[in-house]
Amino acid sequence: MKKFAVVAILVLAAVVLLKAQEGAAPPAQGGPGARNPAAEATLAAATERGRALFKDNCAACHGEDATGGRGTDLIRSTLIRHDKNGELIGPVVTGGRLEKAMPAFPSLMESQVSDIVAFLHAQITLFDLHTRFGPYPNDIPAARLATGSVEAGKAYFYGAGGCSNCHSPTGDLAGIASKYNPPDLEVRFLYPSGTPSTAVVTPPDGEKYEGTLLLNDGFNVAIQAKDGWYHSWPASSVKIEVHDPLAAHAALLDKYTDADMHNIFTYLETLK
Ligand code: HEC
Ligand code: HEC
Repeated sequence: MKKFAVVAILVLAAVVLLKAQEGAAPPAQGGPGARNPAAEATLAAATERGRALFKDNCAACHGEDATGGRGTDLIRSTLIRHDKNGELIGPVVTGGRLEKAMPAFPSLMESQVSDIVAFLHAQITLFDLHTRFGPYPNDIPAARLATGSVEAGKAYFYGAGGCSNCHSPTGDLAGIASKYNPPDLEVRFLYPSGTPSTAVVTPPDGEKYEGTLLLNDGFNVAIQAKDGWYHSWPASSVKIEVHDPLAAHAALLDKYTDADMHNIFTYLETLK
């Protein structure tokens, strides 16, 4: 009887945990290095909705993977690559380019267009990885990707890359190669995600607020302060200083040569 109760509690706990992971999780409590599973789940859900909308409305011409069927290849489109949040893609979709056989979709809601935008950006990220590292499937053996030099990768880690300013192979990155399969590790170090930006917001009365940045879209600014409270302001009324802990990673993407990338990855693969 007792045993049964214990099992029942364990099952219940597992269900609760699973539910939390499904996106019903409360907002992350901030703090440096904290993940933001709620934001990650939101983006993943938008991408999936966008994939379905794209399949229904766009795939006939642009191909299901957006690489262009009868229409334009959207993966290599410079317009899409320069788009940040739909400001360039949106008008083409809602207005079309009728003279060039791109129909208008005035009936798509703004939220649907933004889901399609999320899908297109996700496709580009994936596609870029394919072209650099061959086909994507998760079972790519490490040997296929780890073609660089461990020594050169290590030297870059402690030298030019400045990785050791923030990471340690015996600290936060210990065992990283066992934690992720090779393609995931590649994605993780090239495009780490999930660490939200923090911001210091100063409203006109001068009292500063500091916390996890939840929204900064040019119209509104919202943060969750360390004490857990939400605060928001019209963007025009406050001074805001944003700290993005992943900015250094984004900057590295412009700096790496292909050889650097292969060397670092080969070095990271030794951290089992
Ligand atoms: C009937 C075929 C057709 C359908 C359906 C279609 N497109 Fe297009 N699309 C085109 C063609 C053709 C072009 C190229 C127009 C040009 O040359 O300027 C284009 C261009 C675009 C561009 C501009 C690319 C660039 O680099 O300038 C975007 C963005 C785009 N389409 C997105 C979409 C989305 C999103 C959908 C679905 C909601 C969609 N299209 C549905 C045919 C189509
Ligand atoms: C300015 C600080 C900084 C620098 C420099 C930096 N990183 Fe990071 N890195 C971060 C942060 C912050 C994260 C996100 C941590 C998280 O979300 O778990 C991260 C994430 C990662 C991850 C994923 C870890 C995980 O568990 O998902 C890897 C791998 C990584 N970095 C490798 C590197 C390498 C290799 C370099 C140098 C070429 C480098 N980083 C340079 C701060 C930095």
